[in-house]
Amino acid sequence: MSAHILHAGSLDAPAMAAIHKTGFAHPWDEGALRNLMDKPNCLALAAFDAQRELIGFVMTRQADDECEVLTIVANSKNRRAGIASLLLAHTLELSRLRGAKLMFLEVASGNTAAVKLYKKHGFEEISRRAGYYQQGRNAPEDALVMAKQLNE
Ligand SMILES: CC(C)(COP(=O)(O)OP(=O)(O)OC[C@H]1O[C@@H](n2cnc3c(N)ncnc32)[C@H](O)[C@@H]1OP(=O)(O)O)[C@@H](O)C(=O)NCCC(=O)NCCS
Repeated sequence: MSAHILHAGSLDAPAMAAIHKTGFAHPWDEGALRNLMDKPNCLALAAFDAQRELIGFVMTRQADDECEVLTIVANSKNRRAGIASLLLAHTLELSRLRGAKLMFLEVASGNTAAVKLYKKHGFEEISRRAGYYQQGRNAPEDALVMAKQLNE
């Protein structure tokens, strides 16, 4: 699927919040998204389809030469069409151009789609936080910390 990747801004927050709901049990609302996007060290990129509808986004935060993925999501009806891959590739390249040398992220060990996405983009597991995610009556789930070196 072809998509255009653009910087996301405050005006995109409602569409971003609607998409975040399709991907997370505890989604971020418009205010939380705006709050993050207002920070100078936050990079927010959004994918738009041919009808200019927002179909996914990614947010990262940079400190010195290290970055972390805060969130990435593709609209539920647009999954497995390369949207997250495109967003991640753009983010990695822009972050590298902004001087980042390492990108980190944290992901639930059972989130197969996300773990595979990250591995496909060269992320490697560097540590595991046992029982990090406590979800109601469900058994606790480990968090994987993954990292990728951003080459010159
Ligand atoms: C994880 C997520 C962002 C992937 O988005 P996507 O746009 O569907 O991913 P892509 O189409 O770019 O897929 C890229 C690669 O990721 C992996 N992948 C994506 N979805 C997958 C799935 N359902 N099962 C297995 N692998 C999957 C594959 O390796 C895929 O490459 P391939 O299609 O060549 O096999 C999406 O499933 C999502 O929004 N999930 C809910 C939010 C979430 O969990 N975010 C990550 C939190 S850490």
